[in-house]
Amino acid sequence: MHLWSLLTLTGAIWSARTEASSASLTGSAQQHYGKVVNHDDPDPLWEKYGLNRSEEFKYFHEPGNDDILGHYDSRFFTEPVGDDERPQTMTYMVRAYLDFFEENGLETWIAHGTLLGWWWNGKIMPWDWDMDTQVPDTTLHQLADRYNQTVVRYSAKRADVQRTYLLDINPWARQRENGMGLNIIDARWIDMETGLYIDITGVSKINPEKPNLWLDKHEHKYRTEDIYPLRKTTFEGVAAKVPFDYDAILIEEYGKDALTSTHFHNHTWVPESEEWIPDDQVADAIDDEKQYE
Ligand SMILES: *[C@@H]1O[C@H](CO)[C@@H](O)[C@H](O)[C@H]1NC(C)=O
Ligand SMILES: *[C@@H]1O[C@H](CO)[C@@H](O)[C@H](O)[C@H]1NC(C)=O
Ligand SMILES: *[C@@H]1O[C@H](CO)[C@@H](O)[C@H](O)[C@H]1NC(C)=O
Repeated sequence: MHLWSLLTLTGAIWSARTEASSASLTGSAQQHYGKVVNHDDPDPLWEKYGLNRSEEFKYFHEPGNDDILGHYDSRFFTEPVGDDERPQTMTYMVRAYLDFFEENGLETWIAHGTLLGWWWNGKIMPWDWDMDTQVPDTTLHQLADRYNQTVVRYSAKRADVQRTYLLDINPWARQRENGMGLNIIDARWIDMETGLYIDITGVSKINPEKPNLWLDKHEHKYRTEDIYPLRKTTFEGVAAKVPFDYDAILIEEYGKDALTSTHFHNHTWVPESEEWIPDDQVADAIDDEKQYE
């Protein structure tokens, strides 16, 4: 049998996946999570911060909008990070983020492509440039009021590595509707050395008639029971949380194939090592595994 078909036959369920936790949510439990935005409240943007909604400006800037330059923050960008350094840079960045949020009791979970990476093997997908997390709007307000412009130093335990990250909160984060659509990213966790970042988006209960519906500013929709109760897990070796119904969320966003196809972006899923391996290295990777059998 040809190697490729052999690979696709093997299931790809990550064994360390979190245990399913108990029953689904009851009505009262659902109300326990979050608060519907009250549109009659005074507008804090204008009243308190002098931001006029009719004059919304884009807060975060990137040096370009192609697949490479679109993933850097302009203020910290000098040149693209080489392919050899990128995986480690991304790993440190997300570990530092998750540790910081955990230590400060700030609720967050991994989202979008980052969640898909977690689903397969608890890691960033090797071809992925951007990372995404989500927070409920309560956390977003905490970040805006208490943690904006926090600079976090991070040192990796084993390697002699020091990194610095900036937690930057978009002033328009307090506006929970998408406004002029210039600020769909509510906050960023930025690697100050390279300008690479994690996009943080808030989700809110915007619609008083649909108190079970959470929205970000980019037309992603979730039901309370899609997200809560969050599941504890690990990502890139540190404690992390994922939405309760991660399968449904991933299928809705990427389609069923994203959970079954073992070939993406010129990488092949190698079940023996539970890794995505560049196509041109797959044969070697299998040989390496066999040596240890
Ligand atoms: C907000 O901006 C609009 C458009 O520039 C302007 O017409 C309006 O007067 C401003 N509102 C306030 C409260 O300043
Ligand atoms: C965060 O700090 C930056 C820099 O001082 C400021 O421009 C921005 O408006 C602040 N964000 C919030 C939510 O207050
Ligand atoms: C995969 O490899 C082919 C041939 O080298 C290339 O043309 C294509 O752009 C690559 N696809 C991705 C997603 O990198």
